[in-house]
Amino acid sequence: MSVASYLEKNKDRFLQELFDLLRIPSVSADPKFKGDVVAAANFVKNSLEKAGADRVEICDTPGFPIVYGEKIINPNFPTVLVYGHYDVQPADPYELWDSPPFEPVLKKTAIHPEGAIFARGAADDKGQFYMHIKAFEAMMATSDLPCNVKFMIEGEEEIGSDNLDQFVLANKERLKADVILISDTHMIGMDNPSITVGLRGMAYMEVEVCGANRDLHSGTYGGAVANPINVLCKMIASLKDENEHITIPGFYEKVQELRAAQRQRLNEAPFDLSEYKGKLDIQEVHGEKGYSTIERIGIRPTLDVNGIWGGYTGEGAKTVLPSKAFAKISMRLVPDQDWHEIATLFETHFKAIAPASVTVKVKAHHGGAPAVVSDSSLGYQAAEAAMEETFGKRPIPTREGGSIPIVALFQKELGSDPILFGFGLDTDALHSPNEHYGVKNYLIGIETIAAFFRHFSTLQGK
Ligand code: BES
Ligand code: MN
Ligand code: MN
Repeated sequence: MSVASYLEKNKDRFLQELFDLLRIPSVSADPKFKGDVVAAANFVKNSLEKAGADRVEICDTPGFPIVYGEKIINPNFPTVLVYGHYDVQPADPYELWDSPPFEPVLKKTAIHPEGAIFARGAADDKGQFYMHIKAFEAMMATSDLPCNVKFMIEGEEEIGSDNLDQFVLANKERLKADVILISDTHMIGMDNPSITVGLRGMAYMEVEVCGANRDLHSGTYGGAVANPINVLCKMIASLKDENEHITIPGFYEKVQELRAAQRQRLNEAPFDLSEYKGKLDIQEVHGEKGYSTIERIGIRPTLDVNGIWGGYTGEGAKTVLPSKAFAKISMRLVPDQDWHEIATLFETHFKAIAPASVTVKVKAHHGGAPAVVSDSSLGYQAAEAAMEETFGKRPIPTREGGSIPIVALFQKELGSDPILFGFGLDTDALHSPNEHYGVKNYLIGIETIAAFFRHFSTLQGK
């Protein structure tokens, strides 16, 4: 039996199994779900075992475990390392979901007329890494596995992969591979397959602005004592100028400027600005002057407030001059910015611009390096050939704005090419309410992964 017919025969079960995984609320950020995160690791372990992997192991870390498994069919064959994450983002705010986030349902949408799976983690990343386990199962069952394969599925990606570096450094030999496959990004569209060759890095900060030693009556003191919320807003507003250029001294120093030809090539990717605005229901886009939307996302750094709080936000009105105000601020970075350096520049600048009427605390949460991967490696060529086969169209390379900090570490420490082989769409609502993943994307992904193995082994001449 061929992989394609095995897939056809088993697709309902492949969907049901993914549903079971999606029912586990493995939210790594929230201690309330600790047991569920561990349950998801066990689920991954069991599915690897059932699919035919050997040496399947739950590797404990100081945080959540990393699930490892492998199938070495012949030491002379090329080896593929698969990376993914079984943890998910918090589902809040729950009230904005049309169906409960951990009760997956199939629904048709305009973009997914064949149906999409709605659940937290459907696209990021459960639906995507699970395709690899199912492709592996199909290749095993049809005696069609042309490469060795290793799986490393972690549970802390959404909180910064704090313990993965250590694991990778300690297991370099075990993780040795000729190529690394990661399905945790998206494509331009079903009619426009693409392969991601760039990801932004990140520096995530939290700030606290403190005024008086206690909350004050806003009549008795208002106008005479600094209001930390007002001050924080002013400080944040000053972090970008009228051209949306970031004002932190030294921020752009290491930013790689692309050559005109490279920029032109990036801008040749299919992109319809009015469709983009329409899907987001916005009248106009917004961003750094002198760059297109594709460039603003792919090759330019940015700074965004992710959350801001302080003072009274309950029912009705309370006249209060709060003692403290807070904000979470993230910066997306591009080559060759270093997140530790950027975090320091931010801290120095943020403290320097604070008026004497307040005190400021700055803390760095986590960060990660940006990454650019080759679009000419053997792995890339195999991915290109696989997509061309299943989509009937040659994929184009793109740069995405999201971050997978571990990619740069893989490049540095494992020395093999990571291939960002994502099958989602930018409309999948990652990290948002109503996250979903197309059934067609899931199934074509499984088929394309199997095709990748075939092309990769041929290109490697084994
Ligand atoms: N899968 C995403 C990254 C992503 C999304 C890349 C879309 C390209 C397109 C990943 O799970 C993620 O959310 N990463 C975080 C970074 C992390 C340090 C919390 C991100 O990008 O915010
Ligand atoms: Mn992800
Ligand atoms: Mn994510």
